Amino acid sequence: MQLTHATWKDIEIYLTRSSGVVIPIGSTEQHGPIGMIGTDAFTAEAVAHGIGEQADALVGPTLSLGAAQFNLAFPGTVSVRASTLMAVIEDYVLSLARQGFARFYFVNGHGGNIAPVRAAFQDIYARWSLGERSGAAPRCRLRSWWDYPAADRLRRELYGAAEGMHATPSEIAVVAHLHPDTHRTTDLPAPATLSASFLRDHGGDAHWDAITHRAAFPDGRVGSDSSLARAEHGRSLLDAAIREACADYAAFLVEQ
Ligand code: NI
Repeated sequence: MQLTHATWKDIEIYLTRSSGVVIPIGSTEQHGPIGMIGTDAFTAEAVAHGIGEQADALVGPTLSLGAAQFNLAFPGTVSVRASTLMAVIEDYVLSLARQGFARFYFVNGHGGNIAPVRAAFQDIYARWSLGERSGAAPRCRLRSWWDYPAADRLRRELYGAAEGMHATPSEIAVVAHLHPDTHRTTDLPAPATLSASFLRDHGGDAHWDAITHRAAFPDGRVGSDSSLARAEHGRSLLDAAIREACADYAAFLVEQ
């Protein structure tokens, strides 16, 4: 069930059988010459809706804006600061916790969200730890769709090192499956392979400022050969992610 399609009475009834909610979080940023700017929100939303359908979970409104300052030199990117994102996460969780929701399962589509979202979780828990709030504290979990083990294995099998870090063939493939009519298939030159030290220093999209980033990665891809993406790959990747996400969500709901 999607929260935005429900009435308040539907939500009140849902709360009698579950205190869990699934929340997609993405980004609105350039995804290279053939990737759609909404890629990260589309992928996260598709996995979240899959959980909603297969695990009878409520799916909250998608957070389509993420922390992506490093892509702001590419037109079309809309970024929120890490501190803004933290505030939004905190208000989102506290709004629903006020009504009885207790388990918040975020499905993420953008590496740059990981650090601020986890930091926001800590600030939410701190309200209970510091005695500002009483009763049981809510619990939050963040999973990036590509990190579910079967999805992760599959993207490595399909693309190897050409998966890269940004405008990855796996995310472009998922969007090609979701939106076949607007998928672009232009051939692109293979990007340079990222060094081990780059991967170590810039994991989780820990990039520098936007001017430096565009100068280093002029077409917007970061080590990713987006042109390898195929809609049928996207379907398999999405199925694998949803299967594991459902099991992970079920375990999260009953975790002590
Ligand atoms: Ni992305």
